[in-house]
Amino acid sequence: MTELIVRRLLIDLAPPVPRHWCGGDPFLTAWFNALSMSFPVGEQFFIDSVRNGLAALPAEARAVWEPEVRGFVGQEATHRHIHALFNAQIAQHGLVNDWEPRARERLRLVEGADPRHGLAITAANEHFTALFAEWLLAHPAWLDHSEPRLQTLWLWHSAEEAEHKCTAFDLYRALGGDLAWRRRWMRRVTLIFLSDAARQTVANLRRDGTLWRWSTWRSAARLLFGRAGLLRTGLGAWARYFRADFHPAQDTSERSARWLADHRALYRPVGPAAG
Ligand SMILES: [Fe+2]
Ligand SMILES: [Fe+2]
Repeated sequence: MTELIVRRLLIDLAPPVPRHWCGGDPFLTAWFNALSMSFPVGEQFFIDSVRNGLAALPAEARAVWEPEVRGFVGQEATHRHIHALFNAQIAQHGLVNDWEPRARERLRLVEGADPRHGLAITAANEHFTALFAEWLLAHPAWLDHSEPRLQTLWLWHSAEEAEHKCTAFDLYRALGGDLAWRRRWMRRVTLIFLSDAARQTVANLRRDGTLWRWSTWRSAARLLFGRAGLLRTGLGAWARYFRADFHPAQDTSERSARWLADHRALYRPVGPAAG
């Protein structure tokens, strides 16, 4: 069991967010914005899936799992809340969230299904978020020249994602979820997540009027293929998910623990809370 602490982040998202808040880089801004747009709907689905998984356990197991699930729900509920505030700010820039309605429509297809489907989808998405979190905590320079409160938002979220990355995976296994479905859902989630992220990023750039700038594409290439880029650190981690003996705890979360320890002044622990 992992002890998960819910933290209230002490940042103020009432003041406007600059149009190209991520270091003045339109591409990086559009891409981070796209991810943020997916969080409120995605994280609600993860919360529901983990709750449904808990409810499907026998009573004795449920008592053991309850504290970790409460922590998971509390963390994801806090992320949803903060990213909804952030999303309201970037909507002021004329951006439109197309990802959310598309995801909502798709998620309806698994409504009422065996809870292991929701958990396998959640575990696959959580692997993506954990991989992304590890990459960002390892290379926080991507957020250089961004406002401290926005750096805090992304690094805090990353740290907590790394912290709770085992919950959905372990619950899936506790309910007898098998390897074949775990792999099948990862293949589907990969296709869906990457195409949705790309579509929303392009839509954000188009609405920002920066899609057809040379610097936009140069920045995209640097993010994907650069030395501190996503593919270099992420590809191996993504592939490991398909191994029969994979477990999320095999990938280190040291950076997450260190960030949380070094930045205590930026949040207040509120304990495990219901979301
Ligand atoms: Fe989250
Ligand atoms: Fe998460």
